[in-house]
Amino acid sequence: MARTPIIAGNWKMYKTPKESVEFVRQLRDQLRDVKDREIVVCPTALSAAAVVETLRFSNIQVGCQDAHWENEGAYTGNISPAMFKEAGVRYIILGHSERRQLDNDTDTRINAKLKNVLRNSLKAIVCVGETVLEREAGKTEKVIEAQVKGCFEGIGLGDLADIVIAYEPVWAIGTGKTATPEQANEVHTFIRGLVAKGYNSEAATNMRIQYGGSVKPENIKQLMAQPDIDGALVGGASLKVDSFGAIVQF
Ligand code: 13P
Repeated sequence: MARTPIIAGNWKMYKTPKESVEFVRQLRDQLRDVKDREIVVCPTALSAAAVVETLRFSNIQVGCQDAHWENEGAYTGNISPAMFKEAGVRYIILGHSERRQLDNDTDTRINAKLKNVLRNSLKAIVCVGETVLEREAGKTEKVIEAQVKGCFEGIGLGDLADIVIAYEPVWAIGTGKTATPEQANEVHTFIRGLVAKGYNSEAATNMRIQYGGSVKPENIKQLMAQPDIDGALVGGASLKVDSFGAIVQF
């Protein structure tokens, strides 16, 4: 079965609740007729409920950018998957490199968060990616393998349908420097191979792997033309209705 392309916008710490609602109203109208791809917007947690409300009965799903490994507890400042679930959120991004670098997300933590996301019947977008130093040192595959193994530790075959992997080379995020489609595809093929090794070839064939890092309307077509690229996780260009709309309709 062909993999349905999945285009997700990671808004990071942009847009107030009012701006978020206004944005998705416009986006909803612009993308009303899109049927052959999955569309996800990931506002800040504060805006999630209002965005869900605005997108009810639309073809756009809502994700958030992180969720805790417990469902409740004395964890000041955190939000659990159970809470997101009640608010109507469907996807949780986990292990984004900004969180790995600035908020202590390790593979072990991401793994615990992933398990809790799945326990709550939510879907996850698990991010992996190497830094420029790691790439230059020829360590890309080693780094990606450790991240995938660490994040997927103890995750059963039956859960894979609820997981999307996002390959985001750290050096391509917010820099305007996209990996070439071939460079990205090479890593995607490697990741698919890891899924085949860890699970089986059917699971690998079905796994959707998004590319993220300076995706724009100008480069989405070439990226999506690659055999192992199944979608995009878009940062900066997801903040404007026109550019995100154009990316979705590549
Ligand atoms: P940019 O598209 O702004 O490079 O960000 C990519 C990203 O981090 C998406 O999660």
